[in-house]
Amino acid sequence: KEKIILDVDTGHDDAIAILVAAKSDKIDLRGITVVAGNQTLPKTLKNTLDICDFANIDVPVYAGMHKPLVRNQLEVSEVHGDSGLGDIPFPDTTKEAESKHAVNFIIEEALRSDGELILVPTGTLTNIAMALNLEPGIKDKIKKIVLMGGACGAGNATPSAEFNIYTDPEAAKVVFESQVPIVMTGLDVTYQALADEKVKERITKLDNRVANLTLKLLELFGETYREFYGFEHPPVHDPCTVAKIIDDDVFTTKKMRVDIETSSELTRGRTVCDFHNRTGKAANAEVAVDLDKDRLWDIVIESLSKY
Ligand code: BDR
Ligand code: CA
Repeated sequence: KEKIILDVDTGHDDAIAILVAAKSDKIDLRGITVVAGNQTLPKTLKNTLDICDFANIDVPVYAGMHKPLVRNQLEVSEVHGDSGLGDIPFPDTTKEAESKHAVNFIIEEALRSDGELILVPTGTLTNIAMALNLEPGIKDKIKKIVLMGGACGAGNATPSAEFNIYTDPEAAKVVFESQVPIVMTGLDVTYQALADEKVKERITKLDNRVANLTLKLLELFGETYREFYGFEHPPVHDPCTVAKIIDDDVFTTKKMRVDIETSSELTRGRTVCDFHNRTGKAANAEVAVDLDKDRLWDIVIESLSKY
C-alpha cells in the first residue's frame, strides 16, 4: 500500500478524491490536511469533515493554512458555491479536526515514513510549501508529490493559469523548485476526465448512499461548468491524482522543466512547461499528457462500489 496524505480544499472534486482514496486497497490514507482555496479554510474544513462523517471515513483531518504565502485569499464562489460544496445539506457532524496543525502533521509524517510518503495536493499548494519551508529536510523523505494543478495549455482561473496554481503561485514555486519528484496532473488531462452520461449511469447502478452523494456532487459541479466554461459534462479534476497512485497507467506523462510565473499579473500562476526543452534545464516534473478514461472511471467506480 502507498502511504499518502491528501491535501485538499474541499470542493466537489476534492470530495470525490477523498471518497476514492479512502476505499482503495492500494492506499494507506494517513491523514487529510486542509487548506483554503475553493473557499475559506473554515468552509473547506467543514466540507472535509462532513464528507468523512457522511461516508464513515475514519481518518484524522488537520486544518492548515488560511491564506496563501504572500497574497490575499481569493473570493471565488462561482465554481463551488458559497459553501464550497454547493447546496448539499449534511447532518450536523460530530467529527472534529485534530488539534495539530496540518503543516506540522505533514512534516512529522514525512520524517516518520522515511522516504515512503506520497503527498497528494488537490488544492492550493500553501500547506505543502509551508512544510517544505519550515523543515527543508523533508524533501529527502518524501517519495513524490502527485498534485492536481497547472496546465501546458489554457488555464481556467485566467487564460494563462489553472486555479490551484493561480491562487498561490509563490507556494507553487517552492514546491516545483523543491527537488521532490513531482507528477503534475494538470488541465491537459483533467479536462479529459468528463463525467458523461455513461459514467453517471454506472454510478447510479451502484445504488449506495455515497454513490448517490457523488451523483449529486457531479450534478452541481456540472451546472457550474456548463454555465462558466460551456462544458457539457463536468471535468473531475482531483480524483485523477488518486487514480494515478492506484494505477500508474491511468495517464501517461512526459518529463520536463516546469517553472511558475510569479511576477507578471497577466500570466500570474502560469505553469511554464518546457515541452521541447528550449531552456536546456533539467526536468523537475512528470507532466500528465494523456488520460486512459476507461481506466480512470473503473478505479473511481470500484472505490464507490465499496460503500
Ligand atoms: C482545481 O480547482 C478547483 O476548483 C478544483 O477542486 C480543482 O482542484 C481545478 O482547476
Ligand atoms: Ca481542489
